[in-house]
Amino acid sequence: MTVLPAASPLGRATAGPLAPRTRAVAVAAALAVAGGAAAVAVATSSPAAAEPGNVVVSEDFSAGTVPAGWNAVDGAWKVENGRLYGTSASSSENNKITFGKHLNDFRIEANMRFETVSAATRWASLGLDVPASGATPWWIATMRSGTTAANGLEFAQRTTANTWVVPNTASAPYAAGTGRDIRVAVEVHGNQARWIFDGREAMRTNNLQRSTDGGQALFVNGATVSYDNVTVTELPPNGYIRPEGSPFTVIAHRGASAAAPENTLVSQEIARKGGADWIENDVQPSKDGVPFILHDGTVDRTTDGTGNIRDLTAEQIKALDAGSWFGPQYVGERVPTLAEQLADLRTRGGSLLLEIKGKHTRDEVATIIQVIRDEQMMSRVFVQSFEVDALQYTYELAPELPLGLLRSSLDADPVAISKQLHLTAYNPDGNALLAKPEVVAPLHAAGVAVMAWTMDSASLWQRLERIGTDAIITNRTAELVGWNSAFMQRSSGDPTVEITSPADGARLDRAQSPVIAVAATNADTVTVTVDGKKSAAGRKLDLVKLTAGKHTVSTQVTGPEGTATATSTFTVTVSQAGLGYVILTSGADPAAISTMTAKLVDTRYAELASYVDRQAGKLIPADVASVIAADARTLALK
Ligand code: G3P
Ligand code: CA
Repeated sequence: MTVLPAASPLGRATAGPLAPRTRAVAVAAALAVAGGAAAVAVATSSPAAAEPGNVVVSEDFSAGTVPAGWNAVDGAWKVENGRLYGTSASSSENNKITFGKHLNDFRIEANMRFETVSAATRWASLGLDVPASGATPWWIATMRSGTTAANGLEFAQRTTANTWVVPNTASAPYAAGTGRDIRVAVEVHGNQARWIFDGREAMRTNNLQRSTDGGQALFVNGATVSYDNVTVTELPPNGYIRPEGSPFTVIAHRGASAAAPENTLVSQEIARKGGADWIENDVQPSKDGVPFILHDGTVDRTTDGTGNIRDLTAEQIKALDAGSWFGPQYVGERVPTLAEQLADLRTRGGSLLLEIKGKHTRDEVATIIQVIRDEQMMSRVFVQSFEVDALQYTYELAPELPLGLLRSSLDADPVAISKQLHLTAYNPDGNALLAKPEVVAPLHAAGVAVMAWTMDSASLWQRLERIGTDAIITNRTAELVGWNSAFMQRSSGDPTVEITSPADGARLDRAQSPVIAVAATNADTVTVTVDGKKSAAGRKLDLVKLTAGKHTVSTQVTGPEGTATATSTFTVTVSQAGLGYVILTSGADPAAISTMTAKLVDTRYAELASYVDRQAGKLIPADVASVIAADARTLALK
């Protein structure tokens, strides 16, 4: 059997999930028969002062109760068999349990499993920014049972007006369905977040609106969902560092400059539509101090005019055609001002990697920053430059702006200069980086991302991915987006599978009805059999219908890299409580139930068996009568 990491130590070794225990307790109460002792373990949840790398929450629910500090705001939440169960009866109930603390940079992850759902649209969520009271507004990362739907995964906000805002949706590589454990994770850095499904990034957003006090939470809607191994870890405050398994951040060099005239609004539009995460530009001032978007020191190459940009007025630059040099279909494109470019990004979407091109005075940098402020784009601009002065001025004037240092060759000590200049990213020529890849690890360790330029081929992207590069500045945005997509869909290895319920070796009496549950990785399809007959993950085992003794659940999963199998052998035991359950649910005449129950409580098992034999097919349905009689005879022999 293949065993996954992160298994709950206690719960998995005992009976199945929610339903069986509930049934057993009800029967025990009816018959006044003592139940088994519950396993007790030390809670592992430990709220702590948060620092990068700190595990702020680590909870496997082995203590058997809802952890201290967790607030079941609405709906029924309970801990059983080492898992936390939440239930919501309808799509109008966004039931939640809150915990943790407010964090700007963190990773939340959990094993999430749909036990039962009433429709594939039913969902469960990790709460990313949720007040302890559960009051709106809050943000969640959602997974539907039908996870391969186009909106199978979502980042969503519930507003104070109790409406949904859903800025990002995606489909996952396979459906969560029911009875299947999925390891889900979300990395949050301020307003950025990555949705990570079974170890792979499925979606990103830059659209979270963060509160000052919201913590973490788990949600359920229209389903019963169980959770296990919930962790929250604080991360270093740099969301530009690529987590393992995530694709590159795609930065469109001068817009989609292989497809349209560089540094124009049309190249920006094509890059945005093509899926770029950021647009890169080059900013320089006109003679009269207006920041324009132009790469060269002159307008000669990319417009129908001539002259140094710093010798031309804004009026003169605005009159130039910046599209006809690239192709007749672009006649009429203009050299945009920085303000025009930012307004386009603000209203139509996108973020800007703004390169301060060439020497700038402090006042010229101040003008650039004022334009960014005026356009209300401070949270969506990243500044880079080859010019150290320009970066220092930017830091002095607006320390909240992230900074990147452009380099044609590597510094002797990239970490030292990164610290000196307060860099968020070190941005080297990609070929220089490939010649000295060992600089990446210390930069990451220092909390500095690495963005390589200007890399336009798949073979280079592959090499840059292997050495840990975080972002690629490219002229070929659409191609890199496609490469990213293929990277995310790659197989990450052989499939694995474990049957998590019923646990191998479990002994279950008839009062229980465990749900078949599996945990699989790298697998698209899951098949399950019970004693060789077709069944399914998520299906309840009716132990009244199984003979006393050993039974086998088998599963086979199939993924791109092959198949994996697992088996679990459990035993249906005969007990007084289990037989009580069979009697109470037998559908027999009430008088017969009363007679049988009395004999059971008095442990007159042989007498009970004889009575049932006589009433089989009369006061007691024949099929269940044979089970009751057989179990009573077994008890009589004990
Ligand atoms: O973004 C990096 C890259 O733009 C630097 O070179 O000459 O294209 O501005 P350049
Ligand atoms: Ca540039």
